[in-house]
Amino acid sequence: MPTTQKTQTASPVGRDTPRVDGPRKVSGLAQYTSDFHFPGMLYAVPVEATIANGKVVKLDTAAAEKMPGVRAIFHRENIGKIFRSTLGQGFEGVCEERRPPFEDDVVRYYGQYIALAVADTFETAKAAADAVRATYAKEKPNVETDLKADDDPDEVVTTFGTRQRLDSKRGDAEGAFASSPVKLDQTYVTPSETHNPLELHATTAIWDGSTLTLYESSQGVVNLRGVLAQMFGLPKENVRVITKFVGSGFGSKLWPWTQCPLAAAAARQVGKPVKLVLSRKMMFQSVGHRPRTQQRVRLGATRDGKLVSLQHDYVYQRSILDAHHEDCGEATPFQYSVANLRVTFGRARRNVGAGADMRGPGRVPGLYATESAMNELADQLKIDPVKLRILNEPKIDESLGVPFSSRHLLECFELGAEKFGWSRRSPEVGSMKRDGLTLGWGMAGCSWIAGRFSSEASVELRDDGTARVASATQDIGTGMYTILAQLTSQKTGVPLDKVEVALGDTSLPEGPLSGGSMATESVVPAVFSAADNAITSLLTIAATTPGSPFEKHKPDDLAFEGGRVFVKADGPAKGVPFDDLLRRANLRLVSGSGRSEATFGNPKPKFSTHSWGCHFVEVTWQPELARLRVSRVVTVMDAGRIINPLAGRNQIVGAVVMGIGMALLEHTSYDPQNGAPINSNLADYVVAVNADAPPIDVHFLDFPDKEINELGARGIGEIGLAGFAAAITTAVHHATGVRVRELPVKIENLLA
Ligand code: MOS
Repeated sequence: MPTTQKTQTASPVGRDTPRVDGPRKVSGLAQYTSDFHFPGMLYAVPVEATIANGKVVKLDTAAAEKMPGVRAIFHRENIGKIFRSTLGQGFEGVCEERRPPFEDDVVRYYGQYIALAVADTFETAKAAADAVRATYAKEKPNVETDLKADDDPDEVVTTFGTRQRLDSKRGDAEGAFASSPVKLDQTYVTPSETHNPLELHATTAIWDGSTLTLYESSQGVVNLRGVLAQMFGLPKENVRVITKFVGSGFGSKLWPWTQCPLAAAAARQVGKPVKLVLSRKMMFQSVGHRPRTQQRVRLGATRDGKLVSLQHDYVYQRSILDAHHEDCGEATPFQYSVANLRVTFGRARRNVGAGADMRGPGRVPGLYATESAMNELADQLKIDPVKLRILNEPKIDESLGVPFSSRHLLECFELGAEKFGWSRRSPEVGSMKRDGLTLGWGMAGCSWIAGRFSSEASVELRDDGTARVASATQDIGTGMYTILAQLTSQKTGVPLDKVEVALGDTSLPEGPLSGGSMATESVVPAVFSAADNAITSLLTIAATTPGSPFEKHKPDDLAFEGGRVFVKADGPAKGVPFDDLLRRANLRLVSGSGRSEATFGNPKPKFSTHSWGCHFVEVTWQPELARLRVSRVVTVMDAGRIINPLAGRNQIVGAVVMGIGMALLEHTSYDPQNGAPINSNLADYVVAVNADAPPIDVHFLDFPDKEINELGARGIGEIGLAGFAAAITTAVHHATGVRVRELPVKIENLLA
């Protein structure tokens, strides 16, 4: 049996740790972007195009301008200069919609901003925006859902700004497929999905001469600073971005969207702070979505279940101008062992807003397709789907030809099957019953990339026994405040409640993006080295301060543990607290900085680094009521060392609930007449809620991955969603006999 992490350690790392920012959140003291108010602040409301393809011929702003309390109606002629941003080094200039707002009069998607009303109150600004009349030269929008590639690029800019070819090939996939004794050839479709974080996107822009401060709901303040500095032609030192709390983002807040430069440009023109908060409807139009995908998967296998050929050819929807890459084939080349493989992709332009990363971009739709195909192949072969996966477990990453840093997927299957009771499965459709309900069982494997972004942090030890850790990363609801406090407490011995955490501000040391599930793994070495550097300085102070108990020693003779300095030879029992030493030296604090380099994006890595996992799910089906419920989930994750199991479990549970939504509920529909996302509200775009969630049993394996950082911690923000929909559709088939290959599964699919 694999060991599961029993979690409760004496040290802060590995211990269930309630959020250190919890009291601030529940008492209302946590300030989200739209909670900030400034003297003289004005409100901005964008005017949205009501066509998805054509041109603005005329804008009539006269009525809006005359309304009392209206300060300005901005549009192409009076907004002032906004430059395009370009990709620079690392995260300097990454955004999905590269065209600055109001750059031309062409409308490419419904809801594109064509004007901006600025007024004394939000209500007045909204009324003024509604009073702006646009005349269009309209053309029929293309929001066709059948995707045929019209664009087949050699190279793409991937999520996180690296450029590479993303198709891959080994052996002779076509030939091996043709001669395979067992073949599967199916196409799987995932719809456009919209991120629906509770907190709406929001910006408040404040100018002070040529210095711009932005309060923004952002998953990446450092990149946002780079983009806005470029757009306004400023040195980046002149831009400060502040994001103290984020009411989640799921990827929609990774990269800047056009409302941010619009608010900044308006604030520059009116000379006052300007706040712009999107409506829920705008969230469906102009701040990204998971693009629709159509994926053909062909598997060739021997009769005893060994894969001999895998072809994954996918097309995804892109916007007219922008080229977000939805990397559906990312995991295909290494998830299983197969000698002959081909992955290709193409893109289909549509009159929709720019696509964007949404929790588990690429791999989530990709693994839905490939894991569904594996389950269908298992049925065809009459082999247990767990056994089929075990039969095709690779020894190394066959695409890169390098070992995995740590891969315990088989142990995930073993534990998941045991906890779920998988051995009691009867494979025939509709053959399992409980309490008059038909049961359906399904499972799937999953993975998510692991790696580090470059990261900086500082740690201070202070004369009152407290510590401070700072890094310009973000807490998007994942628990970064708590992680930074735990890491600092671990190194310094300062209790959690005495560690002050500063994040979400570009005036702090440059921290990582909250994306790719890589923020936690990235900050570990930076915080640890910052703490080590602070401790080294402290030891020098201890050895050199007149009157210090360690005055007669060299710094090298001293050690630090649990907040106390001691002579190595004497051991920690005779240690002196660091605050005592600082007070004797008349020092308020001692500080250290730390930096760690990125591992992500290395084209020739020594190891293939990923997290792994699996889901086992049970659905209940009542054909007489056409009622389908998810009744039980067991999820096992091999994500390295878990720093905060309480928050980690919370991530997986949240992802699983989102997976129920992906499998059964979520899809953004575009009106073929005007190109509008028609279900652009939370009544018509249905997400899974507590009432949809069954008991979710989460287990973490405990295999620290030392290639990632010294704790062996990998990321867990996204992997819980990967593979989940395939487990559900397989369970639905097992219960009902209906194989749904286009998400979401609708009740009408199941009515015979
Ligand atoms: Mo995640 S889609 O990288 O926020």
